[in-house]
Amino acid sequence: MNTILFAVAAYLLGSVSFAVVVSKLFGLADPRTYGSKNPGATNVLRSGNKAAAALTLLGDAVKGWLAVFLALQFGEQYGVGDTGIALVSIAVFVGHLWPVFFRFVGGKGVATALGVLIGLNGWLGLATLVTWLVIAYAFRYSSLAALVASVFAPFYYGLLFGVEPQLFAVLAMSVLLIWRHRQNIANLLAGKESRIGSKKKS
Ligand code: G3P
Repeated sequence: MNTILFAVAAYLLGSVSFAVVVSKLFGLADPRTYGSKNPGATNVLRSGNKAAAALTLLGDAVKGWLAVFLALQFGEQYGVGDTGIALVSIAVFVGHLWPVFFRFVGGKGVATALGVLIGLNGWLGLATLVTWLVIAYAFRYSSLAALVASVFAPFYYGLLFGVEPQLFAVLAMSVLLIWRHRQNIANLLAGKESRIGSKKKS
């Protein structure tokens, strides 16, 4: 029962779409109306406002981290074990993808997944972030960097900790994240994906 309460709280936290909230605070257009129409940091960057994009990235990552951190910190005394931590990880991510506060129209989950991974383990988060940075620096595609990092993340988890419930949460996040990027994959294959910082989005 307590595990369900933690997971529901994580889902609600994940449902706070920082792209929409930050854009509103900055007086910018709703990111669901321009560019890729994705409420995420990459698309907010297409507004030209770097601070708003950075805050979106930070907010979406921190909520993922916070949900896992709180579950790890306080869950044990309420009987939240490894499976519960895995559920909380998925719940905050699912909240970002299908937010109850925004008619279930959410983002693609990159920043939130990163936050979750950092919450699970700093080295896991760092390895995944470095993977993202290397690909983003080399190819200038945010989506490609996220796709490659999400393929690597479960391997990093397995290498660090072996098979445990949280590995399946990381795997599930990666599958959902890749599925959410299906339009980006099509654009990449067609050579139509916009590069980081470009305001255009075909
Ligand atoms: O963080 C999402 C990114 O990987 C792709 O975003 O707006 O280019 O579809 P976008």
